[in-house]
Amino acid sequence: MSRIAIIGTGYVGLTTGACFSALGHDVVCADIDAAKVERLKQGDIPILEAGLDEIVREGLESGRLTFVLGAATAAADCEFAYLCVPTPQGEDGSADLSYIEQAAREIAPVLPSESVVVNKSTVPVGSTRVVERALGRDDVAVVSNPEFLREGSAVHDFMNPDRIVIGADDQSAAIKVASLYLGVAAPLIVTDPASAETIKYAANSFLATKISFINAVAAICEAVGADINDVALGIGYDKRIGSEFLKPGPGFGGSCFPKDTRAMVKIAEEGGYDFHLLKGVIQVNDEQYDRTAEKAIELMDGDVDGKQVAAWGLTFKARTDDLRESPSLEVLGRLAARGAKVRAYDPAVSHQLDGIEVVADPYDACDGADVLLVLTEWDEFKWLDLGEVKARMATPAVVDARNLLDRSALIRRGFTFRGIGRR
Ligand code: UGA
Repeated sequence: MSRIAIIGTGYVGLTTGACFSALGHDVVCADIDAAKVERLKQGDIPILEAGLDEIVREGLESGRLTFVLGAATAAADCEFAYLCVPTPQGEDGSADLSYIEQAAREIAPVLPSESVVVNKSTVPVGSTRVVERALGRDDVAVVSNPEFLREGSAVHDFMNPDRIVIGADDQSAAIKVASLYLGVAAPLIVTDPASAETIKYAANSFLATKISFINAVAAICEAVGADINDVALGIGYDKRIGSEFLKPGPGFGGSCFPKDTRAMVKIAEEGGYDFHLLKGVIQVNDEQYDRTAEKAIELMDGDVDGKQVAAWGLTFKARTDDLRESPSLEVLGRLAARGAKVRAYDPAVSHQLDGIEVVADPYDACDGADVLLVLTEWDEFKWLDLGEVKARMATPAVVDARNLLDRSALIRRGFTFRGIGRR
């Protein structure tokens, strides 16, 4: 078993560290936020991630998982240092590598000889070289090992990956990194760093393309009187297409797809290629926010100013408490900009938001509302009492942007109703 330092305890770093400790490795996780480190030492997890608290608790109890302040403290005695720091979007759309470079410079003086630095953050092609330069150490190999973890099911995805990708020039370093995953059954792809980095961006860009594609087909379904759910089913059974990521909705969001698609366009541009296709994907996604807001506006007969809007779901998808680049906020922001008063409920959000009154009960959100928008696919919304919803609303009108609610029940109850890609 190996000694692993994890630099950065965001959802990728924390999940990676906790899962490696569950596989039997000794893991030291470092962060620059002292208060966060103290919380983690107590087993207090700052994010909503299924199964993470259990494995963090087990790791802390067994002594295989520890938390420290500062990257250098964690890296001093490690065989592997995983860089899991953020790569936010820079002003021109490209990824900002300053956190990665800073982390590499910090650990450079203390890394033991023959240790391996692993890039887990989503980094543009060529970043392995950037890390090598920042480290300035000939006796330390740098390897790319991109993550494919979905928020909300990150622990499951780590333990049951579709594949493990390792990009390295140094074959022995690649084998060392592969050995960390002993016990995890998955195809292993060992390649060069540039290919590993491209795999990560291409995977997220392709998934985003599927979503924009199905949202565009949903618009066509509305025009021709077809039903997107049946259309998605019908194409998804074709194994070459696959049924995953064909759910229409208010557009994709979160901390990855919007940022990574924009970064991929930038990477292409810098390489002299105009990635029209991906630009179209991003444009369709922006239009999807508009189209969703338009449905609500239409149900209010175009008269939005002063109207009361109810919303169920604020997070960028269900089973997370993450609001980053959330389509819900995009859609509600468009309505608020036209003078609507927005009251929202989300099972994972309890704090107030700018321009949105957040309430603790889904029915309270509907009080006096002229329209209700269902924006995140939380299961519990399916089982709410539509009779009670109707009684609370000023006008029984629903935009179901996730095609989640029982359509016939809505019609039976006398709601005016708009889904996505459905008559
Ligand atoms: C995504 C990828 O799925 C992970 O493989 C990747 O590791 C991660 O980004 C990352 O780069 O770190 P995540 O952002 O957690 O994971 O969320 P997804 O489950 O992929 O959903 C992204 C967005 O697409 C959400 O807004 C979701 O509602 C939307 N979506 C997803 C749809 O609208 N329709 C679908 O069929 C699927």
